[in-house]
Amino acid sequence: VTLLYEGKAKQVFSVSGEPDLVRMEFKDSLTAFNAQKKGDFPAKGMINCQIATLIFQKLIRHGIESHFVRSEGDRAMIVKQLIMLPLEVVVRNRVAGSLAERLGIAEGKPVRAPIVEFYYKNDALADPLVTAEQVESLGLLPHLSISQTHEVLLSLQAFAKKLNQALIKIWQQVGLELVDFKFEVGTDKDGRLLLADEITPDSCRLWDLKTQEKFDKDRFRRDLGGVAEAYHEVLRRLKTDDGGRP
Ligand code: TMP
Ligand code: ASP
Repeated sequence: VTLLYEGKAKQVFSVSGEPDLVRMEFKDSLTAFNAQKKGDFPAKGMINCQIATLIFQKLIRHGIESHFVRSEGDRAMIVKQLIMLPLEVVVRNRVAGSLAERLGIAEGKPVRAPIVEFYYKNDALADPLVTAEQVESLGLLPHLSISQTHEVLLSLQAFAKKLNQALIKIWQQVGLELVDFKFEVGTDKDGRLLLADEITPDSCRLWDLKTQEKFDKDRFRRDLGGVAEAYHEVLRRLKTDDGGRP
């Protein structure tokens, strides 16, 4: 078993005897602003692993397939090894975060239709926003022609909207509004586009439907306190699927 990759919140290991699979282990660390801000809390890895697992399982019922294969212990999952697209896709249902800041629009303003944005994954450049045209004309997806890149981006946009509709319902079920989220995709050995990485309070903005209270990484980014409590509560709600009632 070898460490294949270490990111800010996860480690990826090979799985002996299963070359098409990898083990994704969730760390207790928490970073923001391209890792300029660092933190952690006990059991964070375990909580996010369990949240991501429950979300992937619920997504299957909405016809959305991910890299998830099975759980392994309480802070790891076995996933399909994919060829990752070097993109982060953000979907927004309300204006918040970097969009609110860049355009000077009040956080919380609803959008007329969900917004899909692409960010080019590059730590040295802090994952810059890119247009579909830039991805195509600059050849940012390796080994793909301009027309193949165009097709992949069209599929990705359709996938983003379908995933958004499913996640809105899943989070609504537990009393949370999906304000925005980030996802990553890769292709499996048959060339199919699958959801990868994680869907957790690290990668989503989740506001309580009744109180608007934040239940996501903004508590850490903005020093709001109650970070661990919020993540625990998100897991508790998903496990009981009770709309957030205590
Ligand atoms: P943003 O408003 O900072 O652009 O973030 C949009 C959404 O994407 C938000 O739910 C947080 C998530 N996100 C990540 O998961 N990773 C990142 O590196 C960034 C910048 C945002
Ligand atoms: N995930 C990014 C980081 O660790 C940024 C963020 O989520 O705010 O730096």
